[in-house]
Amino acid sequence: GDAFDEAQFRSTNARVMDYQEKADTIIKRLARSLEKEDLEDVKNLILELEIVCPVSGSKNWTDVKQFNLMFGTKLGASADSAMDLYLRPETAQGIFVNFLNVQKSGRMKIPFGIAQIGKAFRNEIVARQFIFRMREFEQMEMQFFIRPGSQKEWYETWKQNRMKWHLSLGMGEENYRFHDHEKLAHYADAAADIEFRFPFGFKELEGIHSRTDFDLGSHEKYSGKKLQYFDPELEESYVPYVIETSIGLDRMFLAVLAHSLVDEELDNGSTRTVLKIPAVLAPTKAAVLPLVKKDGLPEIAHQIIDDLRLDFNVTYDDKDAVGRRYRRQDAAGTPFCITVDHQTLEDQTVTLRHRDTMEQKRLPIEELHAAIDKEVGMRHWLKKIL
Ligand code: GAP
Repeated sequence: GDAFDEAQFRSTNARVMDYQEKADTIIKRLARSLEKEDLEDVKNLILELEIVCPVSGSKNWTDVKQFNLMFGTKLGASADSAMDLYLRPETAQGIFVNFLNVQKSGRMKIPFGIAQIGKAFRNEIVARQFIFRMREFEQMEMQFFIRPGSQKEWYETWKQNRMKWHLSLGMGEENYRFHDHEKLAHYADAAADIEFRFPFGFKELEGIHSRTDFDLGSHEKYSGKKLQYFDPELEESYVPYVIETSIGLDRMFLAVLAHSLVDEELDNGSTRTVLKIPAVLAPTKAAVLPLVKKDGLPEIAHQIIDDLRLDFNVTYDDKDAVGRRYRRQDAAGTPFCITVDHQTLEDQTVTLRHRDTMEQKRLPIEELHAAIDKEVGMRHWLKKIL
């Protein structure tokens, strides 16, 4: 019940403490072996722990192998003169090689970040779960350049900033968690994932990595060109350290859609399909619906659209009964429906229906813009994460 104290239970129950100690020892050994690329020991660990295949029940494991995760291709006119080329497995490197261009032309002072969106390619062994894991996907990455030695602080800051960004979309605090990495990539001195509760369980949505000066340092080393920053406050030059935030666009899209699409049972026993997509992300912000296709109502609806469309993507729908039109917009994720009826002709008011609550309220046409903007506007949303 509510009185249960998990921390106390974990730190006092002898059996639980014993299990935890065993688990920690195994995880440490696995991390150490992976770090040293000692794949034989990884196999030994599997055998010692008598791990069985969850599907077949077999223990007949092959040796542990390193898979090739990069896509190779050839560049050149003829086969013998062609040069090996690899498709980028992350967008990050484009940012690193342009670091000085951006810093000098933008007269940027450290700390500052460069963000980019683009394709990445990986020779994934198992590409499945719809668009969760693909061989060609889209990444949105940011490299944040900082003073050496300040990486721990900035790493924590970016972990919190990014979690705040996710939570600002309103998809439920309970659906996110951090997963701190034991085994670090060759370029990182700290790394964590932000995991999201997908329909198939908690999985990585975004990675936050403290990449040290590994990338800029390596580009310097192999190109022979300096990638250093002169810090006017310290009066010295250095290769900046980097904190990276990296999120898959496709995964984010899947998280939003999977979370938002619900079949809802209503009080009157009927059901509706509704895409409860965060209003700021909804492709169409409002639908304007004349109750009937006559008596001047369509004309007023078009006037409303002409005004709103300067700021919002709005649509017009006069087909079928208004209840069916509401359902259509619910399923498309449109946060607002504006209904023009005969009362509008008399007092210039309309009804504004909210997608999630289905609440309808009457308001003057001139107040529509502010009412919609308050919920769908970027400005209002961004204020939440400032
Ligand atoms: N630059 C660091 C980096 O690439 P990562 O954790 O390998 O780090 C970052 O990838 C993000 O890219 C992941 O959190 C995930 O959202 C996305 N991602 C990675 N592999 C993917 C794949 N095969 N298909 C779709 N998205 C992928």
